Amino acid sequence: MKTIVSGMRPTGNLHLGSYFGALKNFIRLQQEANCYFFVADYHSLTTHPNPTNLHQSVKTVLAQYIACGLDPEKATVYIQSQVPEVVELYMFLNMNAYLGELERVTSFKDKVRQNPQNVNAGLLTYPTLMAADILLHKADAVPVGKDQEQHLEMTRTFANRFNHMYQVDYFKEPIAWNFGNELVKVPGLDGSGKMSKSEAESATIYLVDEPSVLKKKIMRAKTDAGPQEPNSPKSVEIENLFSLMKLVSKSEVIEQFDKAYADCSIRYGDLKKQLAEDMENFIAPIRERIHEMESNTEYLSRIAKEGCDNAIASAQQTIREVR
Ligand code: TRP
Repeated sequence: MKTIVSGMRPTGNLHLGSYFGALKNFIRLQQEANCYFFVADYHSLTTHPNPTNLHQSVKTVLAQYIACGLDPEKATVYIQSQVPEVVELYMFLNMNAYLGELERVTSFKDKVRQNPQNVNAGLLTYPTLMAADILLHKADAVPVGKDQEQHLEMTRTFANRFNHMYQVDYFKEPIAWNFGNELVKVPGLDGSGKMSKSEAESATIYLVDEPSVLKKKIMRAKTDAGPQEPNSPKSVEIENLFSLMKLVSKSEVIEQFDKAYADCSIRYGDLKKQLAEDMENFIAPIRERIHEMESNTEYLSRIAKEGCDNAIASAQQTIREVR
């Protein structure tokens, strides 16, 4: 059986983009592979979050992952900082990670540009910590987005370098798992390309949004002046609303609005009302499970403990062998 490892930094409430972009795929993988999913809280420290917020965020995302269907019975779900072995492997890998190659990493250069006053060593060695996460369980594949591909390449470099240096055939070369054409685009509500944390709150749909909030956000989404002639192409704003509809509405409903757009009879108010209704139907059961989970702190700490025990067992074996 293949081993799959992936992690996500705790950034607060999950939004529709992270659900359809990543989580849904992880959830499918847990059925067929030996999966490790963890909350990458140490990675978050590179940008100096407020400690109280970070601790809260770890709990929030854990509850929300589980509510979305990540199954602790099938996958090992754990919190990075509870598995100290990762730090030891990070230290070992750092011995063979060179300044030049770390400085050339795109995500590092971006961070330096955005935040020149916080160029710390943790930020520089972000890719070694990530390699440690992955190699700790000798992963075969890592389901991540395109933006993480360079980090995966470095993980392979570090794995090979270790093997070469100690003349062993120990670490495998994990591949980045891209879901290719199955990747869905989840746009924001403000006409922007992508739903993400960095966009305005009003453009982002959270899985915990209450019905009234959800409705308000969708009803206020950007539109245009409407189709001026039959069969005209859709503007980005309208295309976005249709993209969101494709995630949550029935195909008949989408066809009906597509037709109305083509013959210029569409009323955007109706389109949004329908989208709001279908979105609410989609989100309601998830939101309910999130609330159940969040109030069930005992269950959450139990599964975090069990996940952590499993992860530590796997990690300790690696560390023993690496030493
Ligand atoms: N860097 C990843 C991101 O920002 C998070 C991450 C940390 C990760 N460690 C990992 C992803 C190991 C996959 C495997 O999304």
